Amino acid sequence: MVEPERWWREGVFYQVYPRSFADSNGDGIGDLRGLIDRLDHLEWLGVDGIWLSPIHPSPNEDWGYDVSDYLGVHPDLGTLEDVDELVAEAGRRGIRVLLDLVPNHTSIRHPWFRERPELYVWTDEPPNNWRSVFDRGPSWTLDGETGRYYLHTFATGQPDLDWRNPEVHAEFQRIIRFWLDRGVAGFRLDVVNVLYKDPELRDDPPAGPEDPPLLRELGMRRVNSMNQPEIHDLLREWRRLCEEYEPPRILVGEVYAFQVPHWASYYGNGDQLHLSFNFQLMYNRFEAGKLSGVVAEVERELPAGAWPCWAGSNHDGGRLASRWARGDERLARCGLLILLGLRGTPFLYYGDELGLLDGEVPPERRLDHAEPGRDAARTPMPWSAAGEWRNPWLPLVDTSRNVADQRADSASTLHFTRELIAARRRLPDLRTGSYRELESPPDVWVWRRGETCIVAVNLGAGEARLEIEGRVELSTDREGEGEAFDGRLGAGQGVILSLTK
Ligand code: GLC
Ligand code: CA
Repeated sequence: MVEPERWWREGVFYQVYPRSFADSNGDGIGDLRGLIDRLDHLEWLGVDGIWLSPIHPSPNEDWGYDVSDYLGVHPDLGTLEDVDELVAEAGRRGIRVLLDLVPNHTSIRHPWFRERPELYVWTDEPPNNWRSVFDRGPSWTLDGETGRYYLHTFATGQPDLDWRNPEVHAEFQRIIRFWLDRGVAGFRLDVVNVLYKDPELRDDPPAGPEDPPLLRELGMRRVNSMNQPEIHDLLREWRRLCEEYEPPRILVGEVYAFQVPHWASYYGNGDQLHLSFNFQLMYNRFEAGKLSGVVAEVERELPAGAWPCWAGSNHDGGRLASRWARGDERLARCGLLILLGLRGTPFLYYGDELGLLDGEVPPERRLDHAEPGRDAARTPMPWSAAGEWRNPWLPLVDTSRNVADQRADSASTLHFTRELIAARRRLPDLRTGSYRELESPPDVWVWRRGETCIVAVNLGAGEARLEIEGRVELSTDREGEGEAFDGRLGAGQGVILSLTK
């Protein structure tokens, strides 16, 4: 049994995008009641925690990431009572619930923007060259009412809060307590490296050829518009708050940092984030050499005691079955095997357990304002071949990979994912054992977990031979499980082996 204070290290998380998960009242929008009704699916799958993307009232300029009331629930999604029921019902099934906290900005329609403008960042003239993340336009916009410019790192409807104002701290302390007091297990923290800006609002310097492609595309290094050291004090403050609770609550950060040591610094000395998503893995090419290189660096740079956190999909970057596996279900299973076979906490995105692909969203159905649009990552969960949705807010076109059919088929990716989660429960080294990469043929990645487990994936086009003796605990092709490993690893195949003494 997993000790309570280690649950977030040893468990498996599952991200729910609430508008797209399950609709209980047929209005085409997923809701909390729908999620409660589908908790059986998550219990059967074996997950330990849910991360719920934002549930608060929002004008939905950024689909919930523009919050207009941090203490409320969006009427499309349900009520506060539904949240309480979700926490209780999930808890009965051994599943904890994380909410998504968006502290960098509010919606421009949050009452604070007019009633307490001092909580935001204002200037008389645009003071610098900062660019907004979504459209690369200036991140300063003139407010007609005051004749002054406000800062928005994201959309114009998402004004940035001024974290140098102590009143902002006080408000968020209240917000955090409000939810933790209701039994929420913690938060996923939105764009946590963006909260503090350079106090003198200096220009961002231009990006150079040595910078990663994403920065080069943007044309600048975001060293002044974000990534300021003061964030570490704030995280320490919130970590202390989490530890006042019994059981202690947790903080999972979204930190887009391009250098591993910078990313790792958000763990602090065991006194900041509990977990921080690693985006180097998610956005890398699905090649053994690339992925193992990221993991090697993470293993080297993470402070002692810090715990990695892996995801292959989310509501921004799309689904691993498309991005990594390009639709090949064998490779999607390898992706899942990697996420759950590494040292660290895996986060699945709803539908990953089916090998679900990004949805098809024709231009006239497009709803996201970011460029490129992210709607394809957010299409409804296919519960059956019929979908179980009436006029959903985003189209559900392809239901060939769906829950009901895969549940009825023991050879499906859904059953594979369930077995993978079960293997983590059964094999302590798969949860907590150290990571050590082993020598392997080209395009193959083999690593050892602790003393008793080996994980191997072949991402190449040909069969590989491995000189390892062990018992097949799980194979992506579901062949030979429970038997001695014969040393052959087919193209697009992955295995978990337990070592026979
Ligand atoms: C995070 C969210 C993304 C959102 C952005 C601004 O990156 O994951 O969906 O648009 O923050 O809040
Ligand atoms: Ca609904």
